[in-house]
Amino acid sequence: MSLAHRDEMDVGAPAPAEQALSRSRDVGEPLLRLRGISKHFGAVQSLFGVDLDLPAGQVTALCGDNGAGKSVLTKTIAGIHQPDQGEMFWQGKQVHIRSPRDSAALGIETVYQDLALADNLDIVQNMFLGRERLNNRLFLNEDSMERAAAETLAGLRVTSVRSIRQPVATLSGGQRQSVAVAKAVMWNSKLVMLDEPTAALGVAQTRMVLDLVVRLKSHGLAVMIISHNLNDIFEVADRIAILHLGRMVAQDKASTFDRQTAVDFMTTGGSSRPITDSSNPRRD
Ligand SMILES: Nc1ncnc2c1ncn2[C@@H]1O[C@H](COP(=O)(O)OP(=O)(O)O)[C@@H](O)[C@H]1O
Ligand SMILES: [Mg+2]
Repeated sequence: MSLAHRDEMDVGAPAPAEQALSRSRDVGEPLLRLRGISKHFGAVQSLFGVDLDLPAGQVTALCGDNGAGKSVLTKTIAGIHQPDQGEMFWQGKQVHIRSPRDSAALGIETVYQDLALADNLDIVQNMFLGRERLNNRLFLNEDSMERAAAETLAGLRVTSVRSIRQPVATLSGGQRQSVAVAKAVMWNSKLVMLDEPTAALGVAQTRMVLDLVVRLKSHGLAVMIISHNLNDIFEVADRIAILHLGRMVAQDKASTFDRQTAVDFMTTGGSSRPITDSSNPRRD
């Protein structure tokens, strides 16, 4: 564990997840709170002082046009990029996420569209990759891993896979996403981030992934979903956060947006019909 400021938060401690989640819900403190996150790559400023709240038990849709900074923001939370400036608070305590390991230790799981799974391995092997269960020091406990994988998939009502011993390469796009999400759930994640999970999917597969997103939230997880499909967004999102050219230009309950307002914010960074909630971040 490479978090330098262990006094700020001992992410290795076996915190009672349920308790922590309900506590953060009670006091209105989001599971993850970002304040003033900036990030540049050479001459390109990708993020300008971004504020973002990701509450437990809610789906936050992160929206914006291509190049708005959605993936950079996601990778910053995932520990792949380090912010130049800004602060992150996990259950109210400041944290420094310096690597994907730090992010995973907190309970953050990121599902990338293409990188999520190893094609040549089967479903069980993917779900336990790097965290295999052993019978003793030598042999994998296949039965125990198979049972846990099957139970997790069944619990999420992922029923369309023929066999959990099927190589992931033979799965459809929606099934792959489902396995990636199930993996996140099995490892007791508290925050799941999905970067464009439905971009390459057909109608039925998209349905499957969106149902899964709703199930994650009903399990008490915070979900962040990146999409520029307005149908998906308005169907599953409790909150909408919109980036425009690296700035967070709107962030509020989904019910305060209509399609036109959301499109205005995504394409121009503003709207002639501004949303009214005082909890909006600044728009400078
Ligand atoms: N590793 C990188 N190096 C340089 N520039 C990058 C890198 N990653 C992203 N960018 C730039 O940051 C901006 C935001 O990119 P990104 O977060 O991928 O946008 P999107 O909202 O489409 O996911 C873009 O201008 C992109 O070119
Ligand atoms: Mg992207």
